[in-house]
Amino acid sequence: MNKRRVFVTRIVPEGGLALIRAACDADVWAEELPPVRPVLLEKVRGIDGLLCLLTDPIDAEVMDAAGPGLRVISNHAVGYDNVDVAAATARGIPVGNTPGILTETTADFAFALLMAAARRVAEGADYVRAGKWRTWGPMILLGYDVHGSTLGLVGMGRIGQAMARRAAGFGMKVIYYDPYFDGAREGVAGAEAMDSLDALLAEADFISLHVPLTGDTHHLIDARALAKCKPAAVLINTSRGPVVDTDALYDALAAGQIAYAALDVTDPEPLPAGHRLVALPNCLVVPHIASASWATRTRMSVMAAQNLLAGVRGERLPNCVNPQVYY
Ligand code: DGY
Repeated sequence: MNKRRVFVTRIVPEGGLALIRAACDADVWAEELPPVRPVLLEKVRGIDGLLCLLTDPIDAEVMDAAGPGLRVISNHAVGYDNVDVAAATARGIPVGNTPGILTETTADFAFALLMAAARRVAEGADYVRAGKWRTWGPMILLGYDVHGSTLGLVGMGRIGQAMARRAAGFGMKVIYYDPYFDGAREGVAGAEAMDSLDALLAEADFISLHVPLTGDTHHLIDARALAKCKPAAVLINTSRGPVVDTDALYDALAAGQIAYAALDVTDPEPLPAGHRLVALPNCLVVPHIASASWATRTRMSVMAAQNLLAGVRGERLPNCVNPQVYY
């Protein structure tokens, strides 16, 4: 029997790629940048399975360009806002993602951003590189203590809970807002639920975002929300860029309405080097690398490959975001 045809939109770690290549006739996009739209539409024609990344918008047009043989869309990420899941479900196509395995690695990085922002690590490195370090100075690069401060978690899913565990070790008070999380039932030791986002924003010294991007969370942190924050507040975003209104954040940082932002994700993404947010000394921007450890990216590639292979074989995906396709 002929091998199933799949398109893989980028080179992913070998752990997953080797599984795919062994089982399928795989067309792997080897460029650094994603295939542009007309190329993507051409590449998917007649395939049985698609392995895509969060940088690839996969909508009804792509699914229809692939044709009726498309049996699976496997997203190499836990977030899947780049995939039109409703359109996939309407066509009976299961969509896979990579939950769980990147939780701790992402929380490590969110905490690293928190620490770096609090203690102005990037500014310190820039200071030395620029030849400004001439003496020990009692007023040089003063920051904020992490211990004894309050961490406000917006979203108490797996990554939010992993942040709460880290914060406990640093002697922080942890508060959270998540209308979908039942703290009484699911329980997170020592973390206090807030009744509203506004209540969290008013109390937190560090605000860390851990929500998926949906219609409800788009621009959740807007000018109105930023106005509720303390002037010394630090915002950390490792979720999705559009959860924060970029222009409102720029205004708040430039006006000193909040102290600092550390962003792993941005809107737009990538953020051009010349963007005004990048030039702000109180904004640290890194290129969406929270899950970027060797071990975790390898595990993600294997999980994405397992979803892909199950899908092309007509088996249930191990991690499926639209299980309705099986009912
Ligand atoms: C995800 O998986 O959704 C992250 O944003 C990338 O690892």
